[in-house]
Formats: sequence, C-alpha cells, structure tokens
Amino acid sequence: MAIQCFGCDLGTNTIKVYSRETDEIFSQKNMVAIEEKKGMIAYGDEAYDMYEKAPANIDVLFPMSFGTVASITYMQEFLRAFLGANVKGPLKGSEFYMALPTDVQDRVFSTLIQGMGLKAKYVRMVDKPVAAGLGLGLDVTKAQGVMLVDVGADTTEISILSLGGTVTSKLIKMGGNKMDEAIAGAIRREFGYFIGGKTAELLKRELGYVPGSSDKKMEICGRNMALGLPAILEVGGDFIAESIEEQLKTIIDSIKVILERTPPELGVDIIRNGIFLTGGVANLTGLDELIEKSTNIRVNQVEHPEECVARGLSRIINEREFRDLTFITKEQAYN
Ligand SMILES: Nc1ncnc2c1ncn2[C@@H]1O[C@H](COP(=O)(O)OP(=O)(O)OP(=O)(O)O)[C@@H](O)[C@H]1O
Ligand SMILES: [Mg+2]
Repeated sequence: MAIQCFGCDLGTNTIKVYSRETDEIFSQKNMVAIEEKKGMIAYGDEAYDMYEKAPANIDVLFPMSFGTVASITYMQEFLRAFLGANVKGPLKGSEFYMALPTDVQDRVFSTLIQGMGLKAKYVRMVDKPVAAGLGLGLDVTKAQGVMLVDVGADTTEISILSLGGTVTSKLIKMGGNKMDEAIAGAIRREFGYFIGGKTAELLKRELGYVPGSSDKKMEICGRNMALGLPAILEVGGDFIAESIEEQLKTIIDSIKVILERTPPELGVDIIRNGIFLTGGVANLTGLDELIEKSTNIRVNQVEHPEECVARGLSRIINEREFRDLTFITKEQAYN
C-alpha cells in the first residue's frame, strides 16, 4: 500500500488539504460540533450548518484561531476524521507538509501531527508565503521581488519573496471575520436589526466593496430589535462598502508600510510583477481595484485564490526540486 502524503493549509475558516493519492485538494469549513458527554458529533461543513443554530448542549467551534491552533485535541480529531474520509488507504506512517504562517511556531504543527497517533513518517514545514508563491505558478527559487498579500478569515499576511526566501513578511490580525463583524455591527446601529455572522458573511460576498453603488441590493432576514421579531431588511452595496472601509484601510496601510520598507531594487521588481492577491477575501469584489488605486501597483488576477497555498504544497510534494524549500523543527531533528 502506498504511503499517504498530505499538504495541509490549516486556515482559521477553511481547511485545505492536498492528497497525493487522489491528487486533489479537499476543503471544508474548519469547524467541529461538540456535544456534552458524546464528544465530536460533526465536523467541517456539516458542523458549520449547525453554527449559530445549535442548542446549548452542543458547542460549535473553530479549532484554529488567528493562524495558530486554538484547540489541539479538536484539530487532531477533525484531521483524523477528515483525512480518513477522503483517502482509501490507512493513515499510519503518512507524510505531512504543513504551511506555516508568519510568526507561528513550527513546533505547534509538528506537535499537532505527531500527537495524532499516526506514527507520521515526518512533518515538514513550508513557509506559507513560499507555498502561496508556488501555488501561483511562480518559480520562487528564481523569482525576484514578488509581493504576496494573503487575506484570510482571521489574518492578512503580507510578504515579499525573492530567490526562494522571504525578504519581509508581516502577519496582521485582520481579515474576513472582522469585516463580517463590522457589517453586523453597522446593521445593528443603523437599522436596529440583529443578524448572525453567516448573514453578515453573505452580504460581504454578494455585495463586495463597491463604494457609492446603490443599484445592487440584497434582502436578508434578521431580528428587528425594537419588535423582537424576525423581519426582512433590504441592504444596499454602498452601505456594505462603508461598513468595511476601516478594515480594508488597515490592510492597505500595512501594504504601504511594507512597500516603504522595501529596498528600491526589489521595489522595481514588485512594480514590474504586480501584487499577487490570494486568500478567500481576494474574491471580494472591488478589493483589487482599491489596492491598485492606493498603491499605484497592478494587482494580478488569481484563479481560486483561497487554494493557492494548498496548490503550492502539491507542487512541493510532486516536484522534487522544491524539496529544499521545506524544513523540519529542531525537536524533530534531534529525535
Ligand atoms: N466571494 C467572496 N467575497 C468576499 N469574501 C470571501 C469570498 N469568498 C470567501 N471569502 C472570505 O474569505 C475568508 C476565508 O478565506 P481563507 O479560506 O483564505 O481563510 P483561512 O485560510 O481559513 O483563514 P486564515 O488564513 O486567516 O487562517 C472568509 O472570511 C470568507 O468570508
Ligand atoms: Mg489562510
């Protein structure tokens, strides 16, 4: 039986895993539903369906938070169930390649996998921006001056790569989740309606960032706080754009700070190559335009930007010449 090999991007919102056996990327909401006394009763998209709807004895939670592991036990339980469901062979002795976000300790991921009781053959790390660069089809070992901006759910990672290494990388606690919170907050203040996180996310996805556009509207259901009853509300694109302006500005400001600190020689390359926008929020209508306007640098269009990191891991797994871009933790090296 062939040894299983996985490339994991453990996102806060969505987990993406490449499997060498099936040569596919599997993705699911990174959520677990825990029932008192019973333990995990659902994971992934099924758990997300229960989110904000479950009775008090069921906890629906995210095992990851801000790019790092928040609950090691639940993350392990999720992975065991998720990996097992998507491949045929046994998981014992598997090989793992983990995308490591900036400022997150590599130990966190090796402990996570080694503690799963799978006798993993090895756990190798890849800097997340490096994996994203490969996922974009760039030969990061040769490319010079590439700027990547990964806007995920909890984090935004802004990096500059050159010749296979990371020149600068910054992880900020800003992403799609804060935008959802801002939308829910604005609707509560402005219309007196209480909406859940899922509805706020839907508004963000559907209406995007299109300032001043009143032609695009969406009907949502919330609780009218004055009446205490569920009711329908119509929300316009301009309102959503205004609600998430501050969060987008935080991202833009950080991009600018990194650009200001970039050595001029690399700056020239970045202008030539354009900025690569990845992560789920790269799908937000209007974000590319906003970045272009604020930096005067072209933003490249990317297909399935949320899968870039997992695609990069698949290249590392299948193309030998990229193995040098991986590393193991010190603890593993001593064992
Ligand atoms: N079409 C869309 N428009 C706007 N936002 C979107 C769209 N599609 C996905 N998103 C947002 O992208 C985010 C998820 O992206 P992604 O999968 O890259 O995050 P993650 O990797 O789980 O998080 P992190 O990298 O912070 O750990 C969510 O906030 C989601 O609402
Ligand atoms: Mg991510």
